[in-house]
Formats: sequence, C-alpha cells, structure tokens
Amino acid sequence: MTEKTTTPKVILEVKGVSKQFPGVLASDNVNFDLREGEIHALLGENGAGKSTLMNLIYGLHRPDKGDIIVNEKIASIHSPNDSIALGIGMVHQHFMLIPVFTVAENVMLGDETVKRGSLDRAAVAARINEISKQYGLDIDPNAIVGDLPVGLQQRVEIVKTLYRHAKIVILDEPTAVLTPQEAEDLFRIMHDLTARGVSIIFITHKLKEVLAVADRITVMRAGRVINTVNPAETDSAQLANMMVGRQVILTVDKQDHEATEEILKVEGLSARDQRDLETVHNVSFSVRGGEVFGIAGVQGNGQTELSEALTGLRHPTSGKVTIAGKDLTGKPPRSITEAGLAHIPEDRQRHGLVLSYSITDNMALCDYYRPPFSQHGVIQPKALDENARKLIQAFDVRTPSAFVNAGKLSGGNQQKVIVARELSRPVKLVIANQPTRGLDVGSIEYIHSEIIKMRDRGVAVLLISAELDEIMALSDRIAVMYRGQIVAVVETKNTTREQLGLWMAGAHVETA
Ligand SMILES: Nc1ncnc2c1ncn2[C@@H]1O[C@H](COP(=O)(O)OP(=O)(O)OP(=O)(O)O)[C@@H](O)[C@H]1O
Ligand SMILES: [Mg+2]
Repeated sequence: MTEKTTTPKVILEVKGVSKQFPGVLASDNVNFDLREGEIHALLGENGAGKSTLMNLIYGLHRPDKGDIIVNEKIASIHSPNDSIALGIGMVHQHFMLIPVFTVAENVMLGDETVKRGSLDRAAVAARINEISKQYGLDIDPNAIVGDLPVGLQQRVEIVKTLYRHAKIVILDEPTAVLTPQEAEDLFRIMHDLTARGVSIIFITHKLKEVLAVADRITVMRAGRVINTVNPAETDSAQLANMMVGRQVILTVDKQDHEATEEILKVEGLSARDQRDLETVHNVSFSVRGGEVFGIAGVQGNGQTELSEALTGLRHPTSGKVTIAGKDLTGKPPRSITEAGLAHIPEDRQRHGLVLSYSITDNMALCDYYRPPFSQHGVIQPKALDENARKLIQAFDVRTPSAFVNAGKLSGGNQQKVIVARELSRPVKLVIANQPTRGLDVGSIEYIHSEIIKMRDRGVAVLLISAELDEIMALSDRIAVMYRGQIVAVVETKNTTREQLGLWMAGAHVETA
C-alpha cells in the first residue's frame, strides 16, 4: 500500500463483507475504503451489487460476514438509526420523500424536534436555512416537496443527511434524473461538502462524470470488487471494459433507412401539469414508420406531459392524437396499447412495473389477457414462463429466476424488464422516454441496437431523452422542445450538437 504519511485518514472501511440473497451472492468478500474528504466513485454493471453494498453500510441489510469499520472502530450497524448515529447519510436511487409534506416536514421526519408537545417548525426551518446557506443549496423549508423539480428534491435529501450531521454521504445514482445544469450544480455542492471534510460515495453509470469528479474509482462486477483506480490512470474504454468484462462499443451502428407512411400524428396538442400550468402548447409533429424521431430538450420543458398525453396517462386540454389513422385523443392507456403502442415510461416504478408481481407477470403486463398468454379466458402459465425466459436471456436481466418480484431487482434490471417487454411486442409505434436511464454501458449498447432493429422493421419510434448523445446517435430527425413548444425540427445529418444545444437553451430559431 502507499506510505502512511501522504494518505489521508480512512474514515470508513469495509472488510471481507459478504451478503447472500436467495440465489444471488450480492456482495462477495468485498473490501472497500473511503478517505476523509474524498469523492469515491462506485461503478459497475446493473446488478453488480453497488446499492447492496451501500445498503449494508447504511444498515438496511446486515452482512453475513465481514466488518464495517467507521472511524477505526468496528461498527455494529443494525438499522439506519445506527448508521446515522455514526455520521452516515444516504440519498437513495429512488427517492424516499413524501411529496405532500413540506421540505421541513420531510427533513425532520424520524428526527422530530418537539417544543412543549408540538413540532418546533421554526427551529427546524432555521437549521435548514443555515445548512442551505452554508452549502449554497437554495432550499426553501416551507416549499411542498411534490412541487419542486427533481434537482431540488434531491437537495432536500442531501439536506436531510446534513441535518443529521452526516460526515459520510452516500449518493446512489444522483445524476440519473438530473439535467446537465443540475448535475453541474450537484458536483459543485459535492466539492463544497468535501472541502468541509465530508466524504462522499458516488454511484453513477456515466463514465465521463466519474472521470471528471472522482478522486478514486472502484469497479464492481458480480458482487466482487474488480479494482480501485485513479481517474488520471484510466479512461472510459478501460472503465467500461472493467465493468462488463468485455469490450463495449460506445457508438451506435446505424444505416440509412427509408421512412414509410405516417404512424403517429400529433396536431395542436396542449396539456397541463399537476399544478394546472400549461406545459405543452400547441405541439404538432408526425412520426413515420421506419424512422426514429427524437425529442431533445432540457428536462422539464414539457416532455413528461407530452409523453403522458400521447400514452393515455394524462388528458390533453386540446389537440388531436392519431395512431395509424385512428383518433386516440384522450383515450385510456389500454386502448392506445391495443392500437399498437409500446411505451417505455419515464417513471419506471410508477408506470412501468408492478413491483410486487414476478418478473414473469411483469413481462406480460400489456398482453396477459390475450393469446398466447390467455386462451378462452384462461391464463396459460407455460406461455408466460416461456416468454419471460426468452426475454430474460435476450435482454440479460440479472436475476436468479423469473419468479423474483420486480421490486427485488436492481434499478437497472427493473428498467431492462420494461424495455424487454415493450420492445418485444408486435407494435406499430414505440414511445420511449429515457429508455436507458440507469442502465450500464453494456446494456445501453444492446438496447440502442434493439431500437434501431425496430426502426429497420418499419416501426415508428418516438424517442424522448435528456441525453443529447443518445438523441443524436439514434434519431433520423430531431425536434427540440423548449418551454412546452417544438422550436425546431431538423434532420440529424443536417445539425450539430452545438446547434441543438443552443435551441435547447432557448436561442432564437428562424424557421426550421
Ligand atoms: N432485497 C433483495 N432481495 C433479493 N435480492 C436482492 C435484493 N436486493 C438486491 N438483490 C439482488 O442483489 C443483486 C445486486 O443488486 P444491487 O441492487 O446491489 O445492484 P446495483 O449494482 O445497484 O445495480 P443497478 O446499477 O442496476 O442499480 C441483484 O442481483 C439483485 O437482484
Ligand atoms: Mg443500484
């Protein structure tokens, strides 16, 4: 090891930790350490065991063997109460805030400050203001959490850990849901935290981020630590290789392809968000068979409401939606699905899966009442099993069996179940909203190639993504959405990243 004099203090050490779940060794003799004031990135493919390792440190699971050492003492962590007392805080992959509560109520939840029998909201608000100011978090303690953009909700989670005096903060895929600007702000906050002696474990699938912000990088695969490296000594290709154990092609292979007839037609569509603000204004476009039509835009410019209005999850306030010649405006999701839509929704846990159902049942969620899954009103378990087995293999869903509940899968593997189901159905139109969010580089490569295969078979694909690289790699035409409107439509080959970036930021558009 390196000489003791130059190495900063190790604040957390995981020594020989193993954790077995039914059929999966999620942590296999893991060694890991965190130095005071560092950002230590944790990388690994979907299901590698990153979240599990963090849950062990945070006390949500108990290790079968091995030690967790905090401040040079073996810690006995039986629950988050113990880890919080040791100065450990965690921001989870799927947020745990209560949307109808205020920031202050969420922050004090489980740690209520009481004065003469009632909650001392003023004292809590004052502390939140103080923390917010210290780290430039810009959080209003009285705001309702559900009204805040995702980036601010995440800061509330961070405030929650700091409110409890965390010295070690675990961030599990914090940037997956952030806009590029929000991610930049988060990195600034992370650096402010480390400058004040807080140590951070940072999980992400974005290799560029890791190389830009981490002091050290640990790569996991199949429950084991593969290596710990310095960013200066590695690059994206090498990290990808370490993660998945093979070479990953980081670009998409796509040939020119003739588009056919119009499949999706959107005319003058408007929609309101849950606060009743009109976030989609008079949007018109069409997508033809055999083309990928990408919608680029900074998150929060109406993409969510647009895709909900197209898929039956939200009532448009005006306009018309036609799929393969059929007027489906305002129809419920099942009618739209039956007209030939595959939908990869933005919020996988709310709209994509039933977490308490098995993978098998989730794989047939849209078709279970039809042949081959039902015959004469009777469910056909064999057909369901076969379908699940085939898709698990094709989409490389990491699970011990098809009987496992979707809620027990790792985040990325939950996403793979939805994508597998939706991209394997005989459809005319795919609406894919952030299809590769939370997926590892190897899985992204596969799903991109599946999307292109569908387009080559003549399916119309509407791709909504906050990742400009993904939009540029897959789309034949690109529309830019800004403040609820489509401000430009261009052929991908006639535009550049820079041009799209300008439109996304609201630069004036002539006629496109
Ligand atoms: N509560 C649980 N019960 C059973 N199995 C579980 C449970 N939690 C995790 N697993 C399994 O442990 C393995 C590791 O999962 P984990 O969530 O740690 O992966 P991850 O590296 O965080 O992946 P991702 O990048 O997809 O979030 C997976 O095979 C997962 O299915
Ligand atoms: Mg995870």
